[in-house]
Amino acid sequence: MVSARTLHSVIRNSETRTDDVRFDNYTLILKGRRTFIYSGEFHTFRLPVPSLWPDILQKAKAAGLNCISVYTHMGLINPAPGVVDFNGFRALQPLFDEAKAAGLWVILRPGPYINAETTAGGIAHWATTEVAGTLRTNDTDWKAAWQGYIQGIINVTAPNQISNGGPVIAVQIDNEYQQTPISHAEYFADLEAAYHDSPIVVPLTYNDPGQRRNFINGTGAVDIYGLDAYPQHFDCSTPTVWVPITANDHQYHADVNPSQPFYYPEFQAGASDAWGPTSLGYDACRILTGPDFQSVFNLQVWASNGKLVNFYMFYGGTSWGSIPVHDEYTSYDYGASIRESRELSSKFDEAKRQALFLRSSRDFYKTDWIADTSTGLSVSTNPAAFITLLKNPDTGAQFYIARQNDSASATVFTTFKLNVSTSAGALQIPTIATAITLNGRESKVIVTDYSFGSSSKVVYSTASIFFAGTIDKRDILFLYGNSTQEHEVGLELTGTPTKISQPTSPKIRVTQGSSLTTFTVLAGLEAFTTLYDSDTQLILYADSATVATFWAPLVAGAASDPFRNYWDIGTNQTILVGGPYLVRNASLDSTGQQLALAGDLKEGVRLTVIGPRTVRQVTWNGNRVAPDTSIIAPSTVGGTFVGQLGLHNDITGIKIPKLTGWKFQDTLPEVNDANFDDSSWTLANKTTTNIPLKPYYGDGRILYGCDYGFCEGVVLWRGHFQSTGQEKSMNLSINGGEAFAASVWLNNVFLNTSFGNSTHARNIREETDDKFIIPVDALRSGDNIVTVAQDNMGLNETTNLDPNSSKSPRGIRGFKLEGGTFGDWKVQGKVGGYLGFLDKTRGILNEGGLFGERKGWHLPGFSTAGWQKRDLSQGLPGQKAGIGFFITTFNLNIPRDVDAMLSFNFEEPLGQPYRAYMFVNGWMMGKRIANLGPQAKFPVHEGILNYRGSNTVAVALWAMTPDVPITPNLQLRLDGVYEGGVGNVQVDNPVWSPQGRE
Ligand code: GAL
Repeated sequence: MVSARTLHSVIRNSETRTDDVRFDNYTLILKGRRTFIYSGEFHTFRLPVPSLWPDILQKAKAAGLNCISVYTHMGLINPAPGVVDFNGFRALQPLFDEAKAAGLWVILRPGPYINAETTAGGIAHWATTEVAGTLRTNDTDWKAAWQGYIQGIINVTAPNQISNGGPVIAVQIDNEYQQTPISHAEYFADLEAAYHDSPIVVPLTYNDPGQRRNFINGTGAVDIYGLDAYPQHFDCSTPTVWVPITANDHQYHADVNPSQPFYYPEFQAGASDAWGPTSLGYDACRILTGPDFQSVFNLQVWASNGKLVNFYMFYGGTSWGSIPVHDEYTSYDYGASIRESRELSSKFDEAKRQALFLRSSRDFYKTDWIADTSTGLSVSTNPAAFITLLKNPDTGAQFYIARQNDSASATVFTTFKLNVSTSAGALQIPTIATAITLNGRESKVIVTDYSFGSSSKVVYSTASIFFAGTIDKRDILFLYGNSTQEHEVGLELTGTPTKISQPTSPKIRVTQGSSLTTFTVLAGLEAFTTLYDSDTQLILYADSATVATFWAPLVAGAASDPFRNYWDIGTNQTILVGGPYLVRNASLDSTGQQLALAGDLKEGVRLTVIGPRTVRQVTWNGNRVAPDTSIIAPSTVGGTFVGQLGLHNDITGIKIPKLTGWKFQDTLPEVNDANFDDSSWTLANKTTTNIPLKPYYGDGRILYGCDYGFCEGVVLWRGHFQSTGQEKSMNLSINGGEAFAASVWLNNVFLNTSFGNSTHARNIREETDDKFIIPVDALRSGDNIVTVAQDNMGLNETTNLDPNSSKSPRGIRGFKLEGGTFGDWKVQGKVGGYLGFLDKTRGILNEGGLFGERKGWHLPGFSTAGWQKRDLSQGLPGQKAGIGFFITTFNLNIPRDVDAMLSFNFEEPLGQPYRAYMFVNGWMMGKRIANLGPQAKFPVHEGILNYRGSNTVAVALWAMTPDVPITPNLQLRLDGVYEGGVGNVQVDNPVWSPQGRE
């Protein structure tokens, strides 16, 4: 009998609207090929230079991934009602094109709600004020609000689906939600109907926030359900403290959606980090989720039989401008495998070791979960080793995934043997070496009856597999292991061995059985070596560090095939390349004699190539590489090449200028110019708002910036009153989100700054309620003006229970004048607000409402002639509280074929009471809160920077406390230099124009 649940899933399965993406209970089946989706998350909006997207995509591909998962940002793409803008960094077409060129599938996650540590979780700010109903429900006005955006997504995505020769294989519905109440479920159903009524045919997916059983069945259920997992949580301040593994995901999948493949739409690959002095910054997050975490936790995902896995984040990037949610700072490095600077970290090495194993291991694409230690699997001689067994039902290949039973222990050192049944009979492995070893936080896959190449088989291996496949009709196996441990492989050798088939190293023992040959690698082998070399097989070995210097680029298939760059679909040809920092690409000419390699170098290295025997000449970035005959090639059969790669540029000689020659101008005429005229400002006279959190006190007027079109960045308020001389004090409750600040002046007299709080514990004090004493001599007869400059740190993400919490009451929630009454309140944010903002290139989240921003001082080309000379490190004149603009220009001259990573760094010690908005060529690339931290380093890429020309940096410096030395020491630093890169990086930095600014 078929259970109702199975029947339901079978129906779903058959409902797939394209044969190009099918699935069974094991995996996706793309164009008829069983595919293990191994994906990385990348938000293009966090790298606002489209010509650098190929860099990230090529790096993801080189790591062995076959897919990327991409959030798009409604707030950026749909900045105002009726405006849907896919230009510039908001474009999707270049992403689709470059993903296809790299041979990566795309899972698109357009929201409209995405969470993602971004303001309002991605919901367009205008919708947070204009929608009266509840966001993320079936309410009519919310539905009307997302229509244009989702239709826009459909229009640009549909032609790029796999069924149309494009990379898109799935579209996610919204993000992490709860299926009840029914208004949520119907919202999902509405979104699904929009896709179903369109040319979108790929499956619709969903990411549950853990084991919550939402949207599997019933209203709003998706085609493929998945669950997100962040098992290590997000506290990077104690980066070596681990959360123990709970190993029940497999059971959950078996219970809830056994006829779908097991999908992790987000698996933790880093952590986000919050403002505040207890944050240690993203390098700490990279330790919390480092290579040992990847080893133990990622292999637990494999052990759970996950067959679609997306790592969140693979490249985090930058939450520039007003992208961040209120508790997060500018960097979204995330401690990911690829750093914010685009450099590779040690996590990238582990990601590559794992992903190339998966790509190589066809037997692993289809496995049944057999048992684990907790369900009675008893194969290990030591119970301290926790083992999960997966088995391919067709080939009999078995995968024993081993970790410490005490998974969080860094110190436990476990040795064990495994009792396995193999085609060569029952064995206790290793048979010759002493044991399999787990060094503390380490996990391993031990294979038996693992097939590789066209006809070879590993009977067992306690060494890890880096690569297995066929190169030029020979079966290639590349093993590796930790050099402090022993490893052993037993396999059937074939072919006629060559003279280097017997390794000479005393660290390697070869034991010849009747059909099985055993290679035992003793501890201490730190090298790349050939274990066996014949006309039909090549068996290689390296220690874990050395193996990470190897790459396995694909050689593209037929030029006419749109999928020529996709492994197993467009091509089965690959080569191995050892040595370079990065190998991006490999191509063979039509004769097969010329092998062209492209990639990046940090220094000169030995190049080792294992490729087709036809190759006569190897080029690196277009330059011929001379063979080095003094080194023995890994194989004497041919097809291997050894040479030396050297740098062509003197990359150590790149000079970075000091930032000098600053010019200064005050940017608070609202305070400092007695004649300042705010008649063009918006009168803040609304008495109703769709924002559910109403004012605390006042007179009924709503002083929320977004209700007047000013939803992000600095907003200024001017409260007028006619003085009777009796005004004693004023109470203001100001809401700007966590870590915000607001400074308050009466006329030109500074009263005080209200500080929003931030500690590492979240959700603390996103608003203030302070009393400001009015000094008698600050009052003047007639019109008096209270000026409030407030920072908006971003709108809240929503919660399951309160989808309306993105409607954040940023502004003044309470105003009261002791001894007097406020007259008009005026408000000003960025010029034009959301309906008419000026900078369409940099988009709605770039600029705010400071006078200098309104005038466009932050833009390149603005003339500072007539401004006074003043160094940024001198702070504001007279150590006053206030806000001033500092601007300087500098030239860069970085060679074209070099990828140089630059950053702006505030180098004075943390703690001074200032915040700074740093604009680079007009882009707000950094918000620095010097009294909170942690961020002092702001990476800025080529494309924002002009690497061969003039650049402008503008800093709006806000001194929040008077009479305290404020000495920002901003310096440009060169963080990394590589010869290579993607080249031809386009600069799109529109210059200042008076239009709309005067
Ligand atoms: C998930 C969410 C992501 C991101 C992540 C934490 O719950 O779906 O968008 O916010 O948490 O970085």
